[in-house]
Amino acid sequence: MSCHVRAENKPDSIMKFTTLFRSLPVPGCWTAAAIILLQSGSGFAADLGRVSINDDWRFIKNDPADMTNSLRYPRAPRVARGRGGDSTNAPAPVPVPAVTSGIAAYILPTGNSFIADPAKRYPKPDGNYGGDISYVNPSFDDSGWRKLDLPHDFGIEGAFIPPGQSGSDGGTGRRPFFGVAWYRKDLSIPKADAGKQFYLDLDGAMSYATVWCNGQIVGGWPYGYSSWRVDLTPMIKPGAKNVLAIRLDNPPNSSRWYPGGGIYRSVWLTKTAPVHVSEWGTYITTPEVSANAATVNIQVQSENDSKTDASVTLTTAIYPVDALGRLDRSAAPVGGADGAVVIKAGGTATNSQSLRLANPKLWSPKAPALYAAITTLTQNGNVLDSYETRFGIRTVKYDPNAGLLVNGEHFKLNGVCDHHDLGALGTALNYRALQRQLEILHDMGCNAIRTSHNPPAPELLDMADQMGFLVLDEAFDTWGRNKTANDYGGGNLFNVWHEQDLRALIRRDRNHPCVVLWSIGNEVAEQSQGAGSTIAQELAAIVHSEDPTRPVTSACSDGNAMNNGFSTLLDAMGFNYKPDNYIRFHERYTNEFFFSTESASTISSRGEYFFPVIGPGFGTVNGRGRNGGAAFTSQDDTTHQMSSYDLYYPGWASSPDHEFFAQDHSLAAAGEFVWTGFDYIGEPTPWGNSRDPSRSSYFGIVDLAGFPKDRFYLYQAHWRPDYPMAHILPHWTWPERAADSKADPAKAAQITPVHVYTSGDEAELFLNGKSLGRKKKVFETPNNSRLNGEPAYRIRWDDVAYEPGELKVVAYKNGKQWATDTMKTAGEASQLVLKPDRSTIAGDGHDISFVAMTVVDKNGTAVPRSKNLIHFSVTGPGEIVATDNGDATELSSFQDTDRKAFNGLALAIVKAKRGQKGVITVTATSEGLATATTTIKLQ
Ligand code: GAL
Repeated sequence: MSCHVRAENKPDSIMKFTTLFRSLPVPGCWTAAAIILLQSGSGFAADLGRVSINDDWRFIKNDPADMTNSLRYPRAPRVARGRGGDSTNAPAPVPVPAVTSGIAAYILPTGNSFIADPAKRYPKPDGNYGGDISYVNPSFDDSGWRKLDLPHDFGIEGAFIPPGQSGSDGGTGRRPFFGVAWYRKDLSIPKADAGKQFYLDLDGAMSYATVWCNGQIVGGWPYGYSSWRVDLTPMIKPGAKNVLAIRLDNPPNSSRWYPGGGIYRSVWLTKTAPVHVSEWGTYITTPEVSANAATVNIQVQSENDSKTDASVTLTTAIYPVDALGRLDRSAAPVGGADGAVVIKAGGTATNSQSLRLANPKLWSPKAPALYAAITTLTQNGNVLDSYETRFGIRTVKYDPNAGLLVNGEHFKLNGVCDHHDLGALGTALNYRALQRQLEILHDMGCNAIRTSHNPPAPELLDMADQMGFLVLDEAFDTWGRNKTANDYGGGNLFNVWHEQDLRALIRRDRNHPCVVLWSIGNEVAEQSQGAGSTIAQELAAIVHSEDPTRPVTSACSDGNAMNNGFSTLLDAMGFNYKPDNYIRFHERYTNEFFFSTESASTISSRGEYFFPVIGPGFGTVNGRGRNGGAAFTSQDDTTHQMSSYDLYYPGWASSPDHEFFAQDHSLAAAGEFVWTGFDYIGEPTPWGNSRDPSRSSYFGIVDLAGFPKDRFYLYQAHWRPDYPMAHILPHWTWPERAADSKADPAKAAQITPVHVYTSGDEAELFLNGKSLGRKKKVFETPNNSRLNGEPAYRIRWDDVAYEPGELKVVAYKNGKQWATDTMKTAGEASQLVLKPDRSTIAGDGHDISFVAMTVVDKNGTAVPRSKNLIHFSVTGPGEIVATDNGDATELSSFQDTDRKAFNGLALAIVKAKRGQKGVITVTATSEGLATATTTIKLQ
């Protein structure tokens, strides 16, 4: 995190700033007190800084009927190329559209400070484009528009577009995320603020945003994943009402996954003196680090928007940040530096300071210690600006033979890729929802996240810093060529915006200790051009110029990319689904650090199991079939569910076990990023076509509602070897698989294979007390494996004849008992159970509790295949904002309070009403079942 903060207006108090940061879980700058200060304008400098303006916006879809202008941003429509990574037959690059007129001409100058060559910056056109549109007029009456708080995703609201209907695209989750949307907000700026600078900072708006302030066009930004700023200063009228109008124009066919639509990340108003630190103006590096001392280099870019040169003092004070993300600025700083700086009128100045910190606390995934640098500009005794930058002190070594070393300690990248949606909440950033995702991943032993395939919300990096995740920060899914008609590629955006977007990403994120790699692209068509890819060269050079401390990678799906020279344009080679290439690659490119940018893509539906199960060996997705002589069923094409034995994957992908094997047999391989940690909206492979009903992916280790699938435990077993755990699958309630001598004497008990995921090395399985054998994890030779041997990272009993009762596993490690798990046959569904993930939440209108509902029998055993319809309701100061069950085929609106259980589970997401206190009571009812209630207290 880096942002302007508030300081006291006394030079001798520089070291004693009053902290206005609220304590965790929400870091930085989110304070109601701060907003009041802004509105009351209590004196120069004391009320400068950045405040959230997320609350109280007005919203409407579509342009006004009276609009005569075309506000269309020029896009070059293209024919979709299908799946990424298939670089053969890629269409030719698209020419850059003319940007000398129309809306683009007014938006492009917004990115000027991210274009290195001044000659390539865009002139600001005269005139007031769109100024005659009623919605931008400050006196327009928007009281009829919907009132809402940001972040907001309009695409997640209401019904799914039914399969078969126009716009119903499985790839984007059958959601209406596209179209024009307008947002308006009144800003009250006190008279005393005359002479100050005002910036509107958006963490992300989807997409093609244009901003007007008081009826005047200000600028905008098209790429929906970038964070950006516009300067409102010339339009602001201190002492009067000021009106913001923001228009988004989110194109259809613009994504391979659900992009969401709307101002889906936070919006801030930053107020500074004319002399201030630039946007993302600090860059902190720690070139020398030891246990005794660290050198901290701080580069600060300041700007002077006044008409006279400014001589100021630039001071840095370093404070430790505690485990809850707080810093105590009343304590003495642990390091500091100051110096005199002159900034020319209308110009910028970049200054560097270097300081030594004794006995630094180092940041690492195991102990993520953080510091904050407070940069202060003072002039004649007045504090002009105070800017906080969080950073960590660590070394990272990218060793081509040994993988990733943080402070000299080896960390295998046990990572996941994730898209940005938060399940039923859509893409609207919610701090707690994201934090919950990271907590679940952390519990699994995941230590790394790839922000596939775009810049993440800044909050993700703040959390990753604090929780100790390593981040692969990715910029683009397409370069010169598109994957879908209106995506980023080619003439749509890449050709004119990639430099601005890439520099903005790196300047925003380069102080985060969690970020260890930059990815310039995912499965881009240009990987087939090998060392001749001029785009790869240019992008890598941009990254190096903004941050020479971290390597550049790109996710390569083309097996050829390792032979054709493409990998040599990168500092680190990223393999998508090529576990069998690691050893050969390392032999050939002995000096190249490499890892798997994307692995597995195994697909499953939580709680679904189909028989027969292939064994021994691994299958691919092709429904019912024979593989190497063994019959198997991977999926049910009627219910559109995938079996959860974690053996099935599309043709380009592999099982988790296969990737584990390859990683374990190449110590040089730095690790993997599994596709994906969580299910996401869209891309429901293998049922993505327009007739199929599915809405969300099957790739997740965790389902869309946040319920772990079996695979969670396979990864946990491998990634947390010291954590005693065992997990049995499948569930053990299969009345139709039992022998039934009364009804049908001929019917034998059916073979129901049992797999156990354990961090132990051996396990014994018992069915109703009878041992079915004690087995070790062993190497097997599956018929379809591209490797010679593939270890069973699971222990399997393939010939268990089903019998109701109790299935119990006792796992061993080094001969000693290590962990157990039990699966009991459930009776009839009888009652509901509710469990909130947190029973006390903040009454701030943003905090939420995730309430899990389980259908159980009369003994409290979960009924694993129950699909009962549940009705959720609340009383008290809260509301149910969404429900879900993790079923990829569920097409009832996410806002419905009636939700069918999916294999025993459903979820209600409960939000507190802003500014209220008291207790929310959540109730779940279902016909014929005993009701459940639970309570959530507001703090
Ligand atoms: C990859 C691609 C991902 C996702 C995945 C599904 O090739 O990079 O975005 O589509 O396949 O397996």
